[in-house]
Amino acid sequence: ANAEIGLIGLGTMGGNLALNIADNGFQIAVFNRTPEKTDQFMEKAGPLAEKLLPNKSLEDFVASISSPRAIILMVPAGDAVDAQIAALRPLLEADDLIIDAGNANYHDTNRRAQEAGKKGPRFMGIGVSGGEEGARFGPSIMGGGDKSAWDRVGHILEAISAKYEDEPCAAFLGADGAGHLVKTVHNGIEYADMQMIAEVYGVMRDGFGMSAADVGEVFDRWNGGILQSYLIEISGKVAKTADPETGKPMLDIILDTAGQKGTGRWTAIEALMLGTPASAIEAAVAARNMSARLGEREKGEQVFGAAPQRMDKDLIGIDALEAALVAGKIICYAQGFGLILEAAKQYGWDMPLPEIARIWRNGCIIRSAMLNDMSSALSDDASRNLMLAPFFTKKLKETEVKLRQVVAQAALHGLPVPALSAALSYFDIMRTQRSTANMLQGQRDFFGAHGFERTDTDGGGYHGPWAMG
Ligand code: 6PG
Repeated sequence: ANAEIGLIGLGTMGGNLALNIADNGFQIAVFNRTPEKTDQFMEKAGPLAEKLLPNKSLEDFVASISSPRAIILMVPAGDAVDAQIAALRPLLEADDLIIDAGNANYHDTNRRAQEAGKKGPRFMGIGVSGGEEGARFGPSIMGGGDKSAWDRVGHILEAISAKYEDEPCAAFLGADGAGHLVKTVHNGIEYADMQMIAEVYGVMRDGFGMSAADVGEVFDRWNGGILQSYLIEISGKVAKTADPETGKPMLDIILDTAGQKGTGRWTAIEALMLGTPASAIEAAVAARNMSARLGEREKGEQVFGAAPQRMDKDLIGIDALEAALVAGKIICYAQGFGLILEAAKQYGWDMPLPEIARIWRNGCIIRSAMLNDMSSALSDDASRNLMLAPFFTKKLKETEVKLRQVVAQAALHGLPVPALSAALSYFDIMRTQRSTANMLQGQRDFFGAHGFERTDTDGGGYHGPWAMG
């Protein structure tokens, strides 16, 4: 038994993570349910093969790892994880450690951590972001679960993670499902970030009549400024790529119905359950759901006719789109961090918010220049709404009017911008002391005697002199 760690599940992500671990000098045992996959994986491993210990049975695999063992699971989220844990349990000792590195629902991770309990084997749930390339060359790793277990394997996870100016983008973020909660919110933000980029693409394509290649140029330019991020970078590349068969821009070939595996939806569900506003993320999930209803949209266009859409470029201008994205992005992160704060409160997790922003600066899909500023802002005060951190207040003051103009002109021209609109409404509500919820309270008291508080006295339980009938 001389492997320092083991990994089960040699799909694209699992295989790449195993290669990354081997590449960092660790001896790693690997196992896959179908042994052919293990053979194929080993054939492609090249010189790294000497660091890899392939196994054809789970028993051999477990036996090849030195004790106390650490085993990473890279199997599809859901039942497959429970099945794999059940198969491993009889082979492991109490101090051995199972690390679920898939995109688990954090409620499942909470349950699995409870099940592991004091009896063991121990359990950790880690969020891993960065797609295939990240897994191979450095992902962002969001750790959660048993802190003493993290202390045992943290050096391996830090070694394989992405680096931001030499700092590892891997950290322990809290007990039980805290790591997977953060990964889920990461993906929710990812959905909103992507959706807002798609929305300004829509304004450029349908409003301004720009070609995909020209849109690509704009994204490239933005990537040199405040919006510098992986998602803007790849959006530029996607827009500029042509289909080799037809020569047409890829964007004009790709069907406009978005897939989703569920993590964005979980974020929205979680926000609703925790009673914390994540409207930009919710709008992004809803936009994917609407995109999937292609047939209905076709009928809608037949019945209502196409919206006017085309507008004079000078009405808002390209720079306004950039500013709108900046504002939208700040607001969506304010919502995402707000959600994490609320979950931490609910579960009694001690979650280091600045650390989360710090490990998102590289490796993960939402990595961007702005995350460095977010990390600083959260270090100053982690419980304050991000919009109220002086750096971001200033940015929002500079961009707010542009966001408003973009949303307004888009609405007038029938160009859907659901995530940007949601962001603007959030901003307008959160900067307004007197909201309209007094009307809601009046209605609730009228029909259900639910009571309300008064503005002129303390305490609640007041009722209005409503005339019934
Ligand atoms: C990441 C990605 C990754 C995956 C998403 C895509 O952080 O590396 O978020 O986890 O690409 O699952 O999610 P959808 O299929 O739901 O878009």
